Amino acid sequence: MSLHTIEIDEKSVADEEALLSGVETREEGNTVVYTIGGKNFRLNKQQARERMAGKRVINGLRSAELNVLPLKYHEAYRIYKQMKANHWEPDVIDMTKDCTQWNSNQLSAKERWIIEMGVGYFSAAEGIVGDSVLHVIEDNLSAAELKHASLRHIAEESIHMDSLLHIIGSLNIEIDEVTAKFRDIPSIRRKNEFITRNMPELKMGIDLTQTVNKQKFAKALFGITQVMEGTQFYALFAMILSLHRQNKMTGIGQMFQYTLRDESNHIALGRYLIEQLVHENPDLWTPEFRSELVEFMREGVELEKAFVRDCLPEDTVGMSQAEFLDYVDYNADRRLAGLGLPTLSNVKTNPFVWLDEVIFLKKEKNFFETRVTEYQTSGSVKNSSEDDLI
Ligand SMILES: [Fe+2]
Ligand SMILES: [Fe+2]
Repeated sequence: MSLHTIEIDEKSVADEEALLSGVETREEGNTVVYTIGGKNFRLNKQQARERMAGKRVINGLRSAELNVLPLKYHEAYRIYKQMKANHWEPDVIDMTKDCTQWNSNQLSAKERWIIEMGVGYFSAAEGIVGDSVLHVIEDNLSAAELKHASLRHIAEESIHMDSLLHIIGSLNIEIDEVTAKFRDIPSIRRKNEFITRNMPELKMGIDLTQTVNKQKFAKALFGITQVMEGTQFYALFAMILSLHRQNKMTGIGQMFQYTLRDESNHIALGRYLIEQLVHENPDLWTPEFRSELVEFMREGVELEKAFVRDCLPEDTVGMSQAEFLDYVDYNADRRLAGLGLPTLSNVKTNPFVWLDEVIFLKKEKNFFETRVTEYQTSGSVKNSSEDDLI
């Protein structure tokens, strides 16, 4: 019997084989030997079984080792690998053309306003996500591979924050102006207050064996990854990428393109965590709680639509406010349906099909394959032996 046969993960055999390709396992008495890249790793079978049996999304065995083996939550590891494959660095994005456009009259007042709102909102919102994933999600997860994937999520939020600094620095935007936007524009303030409403309590360490607290944790997961990242980020991203499409502020557009691709993984990880949490804790998934989540999304959608109206008070070249409002509904429903929850709107088609094509760039067009050689020799790109660990 191999370690794989005692896993209770529901992944298909085909998926598992693909994930584990390059890994050989064999048993020697009470030991399971993993052979990876010419190296052997020996695991005590009984201890491995105990560790596997004790793995839970929350309230499981905790270990300071953060040892992902034996792997139970394969999908989390797959998403981690996907996140890593999309790695990018903001400060090598060329902002020369953006600076020229920003400092001349090549942008209309409405287009400048969209960029300013983008910088104002995201410079704080990325930090809210990073802080919440660290102190609310990762802190409360117990299985190592789930924590591991969340840590990558947090690191990517740092990259996103850094991208905003790169934009602010390159365009020489007054930093006080950015901070003021975050604090003083009601639609931004309301959005952020809404999403962080229950965070202080969850950061204190609550008793997650109680159903009511499990629900608070699940709602925070839903709020951060499905409402905020999955719905409230998308319309403004789409506006900036609409400008990019018109060859305006293309450095910012490129960064937002990479950011949006990252967000799709964060949404997928959040959805997976919620699914696994509910699978292990069916007591939390009551009809009342499901309605609470739908209502939470409804409020998030209303706040987001107010924000869209502030970002784009009227139509401009290549941008229709009505389409962006539809896009909010479309994304909200996608997130709800992804978790088997009832949808809220009648918008059934994506008003921005082109955007999906932009987000899901083919791998051969990814960041590092278009970078200069010096970047690839810096040692920061990838480590192939580490890449093939599992
Ligand atoms: Fe982000
Ligand atoms: Fe994110």
